[in-house]
Amino acid sequence: ELKDNTVIIVLGASGDLAKKKTFPALFGLYRMGYLPRGVHIVGYARTKMDLVEFHKRATSYIKNPDDDPAIAAKIEEFKGFSTYVSGSYEDSTAFQALTKHIEDIESEYGSPERHRLFYLALPPSVFIPVAKNLRENCYAPNINRIIVEKPFGKDLDSCRELLGSLKQHWAEDETFRIDHYLGKEMVKNMLVLRFANVGLSSGWDRNSISNVQITFKEPFGTEGRGGYFDEFGIIRDILQNHLLQVLSILTMERPVSFSAEDIRDEKVKVLRCVPPIAQEDTLLGQYVAANGKPGYLDDETVPPNSVCPTYAATTLWINNPRWEGVPFILKAGKALNEAKVEIRIQYKDVTQGIFKEIARNELVIRIQPTESIYLKLNTKVPGLNTRTVPIEMDLTYKRRFSDAHIPEAYESLILDALRGDHSNFVRDDELDVAWRIFTPILHWIDGKMGPPPRPLPYPYGSRGPKELDAFIRKYGYKRTDRQ
Ligand code: BG6
Repeated sequence: ELKDNTVIIVLGASGDLAKKKTFPALFGLYRMGYLPRGVHIVGYARTKMDLVEFHKRATSYIKNPDDDPAIAAKIEEFKGFSTYVSGSYEDSTAFQALTKHIEDIESEYGSPERHRLFYLALPPSVFIPVAKNLRENCYAPNINRIIVEKPFGKDLDSCRELLGSLKQHWAEDETFRIDHYLGKEMVKNMLVLRFANVGLSSGWDRNSISNVQITFKEPFGTEGRGGYFDEFGIIRDILQNHLLQVLSILTMERPVSFSAEDIRDEKVKVLRCVPPIAQEDTLLGQYVAANGKPGYLDDETVPPNSVCPTYAATTLWINNPRWEGVPFILKAGKALNEAKVEIRIQYKDVTQGIFKEIARNELVIRIQPTESIYLKLNTKVPGLNTRTVPIEMDLTYKRRFSDAHIPEAYESLILDALRGDHSNFVRDDELDVAWRIFTPILHWIDGKMGPPPRPLPYPYGSRGPKELDAFIRKYGYKRTDRQ
């Protein structure tokens, strides 16, 4: 349930993440009536600015395309309970001033009930000092929760170190680690799709499924973010967290219950069956200038000659009775031909019998941009012959649920944190096992095991490196005739 009298403190309030995601999500929740009674929002960051400037920034990404006066009025109300404090991230007296500000708000509540939710929209370099300062200066037992965002380290060792330091200040049940893919509607639907449909769940294994692809495509490069990106690369940015989370929900066994711990136990269990990724199961790319767009290395914030991959395809294997031998191809890239995130499950061939050329069945779960699920089936072409044709049974959300509001991932996750529900947040042992799977290839790519591999070039705006099709075929993928 929602706790009355909650102060939500957004640290890093002048940054991009807060501006683009956190404040719009908080506003969205407010508008839909999902913020607790007596809520107050406090922005905190180093930048000195007055309240007018803060409100301007915090609402700059809130959409009101038709100038709807009702939304405009809501935005004004939202500003009415949002305040700002500036201060350093290292200095404890600044955090004491923040506490004073929070206590002043709480003193107005007229009841002893009060709760604090800290949201760290911060660069990793200040995670620890902020977590420590909050714990030492702004903490009162049983009323606090803290939301943190990736990156959680750069490999297994650095993640353990970071988690260890955070744990000195914040307990696991107070900590909410965001992977915003877990808040996406389609990802949340996986539990229902998989476990509430016998028709699907009975063929959900190595006997029926040939191969699975989980694909992330973005049509823009790292423009302006090259400095950050170059240190991490596409695997740490997308595969190790977002796509692996999707994989774990797609492949885990049915949890004992829908409680957070039961779900996360199953996710950890399936990921523990995945061996570290092999170099030969990896394909890396980097975009080059094309179609009037700059190459990765043209970005001034990127070091010259960087071999950082902006594209990666990696194949994972799950050594358990359900999935042994089924390749799971995780692929992600920047500066591609389209924006698309989807899961594509390709079934095995039917035994030929009376059929000559017959396409495979495929189940596609489109996570974004147009949320949909479609199943490719073979059917007889109507008429007096026996020709077959692959067709799509299509559930496009816009058509089937035309009135529904599909929540933003961050709306859904912040609401979960306000309710104290950890189901869609990443537990410490999930991170550990995720890094174990990726650390060896990351060290290879980082040049820690000899000369680093050279990524294959691909033109900005293309489908990725041209070697990709052969890479996927190697794992048994067969094109069906329409895509
Ligand atoms: C972030 C990555 O975690 O996810 C970005 O750091 C990426 O590089 C973003 O653009 C994608 O999120 P979404 O919700 O737009 O698919």
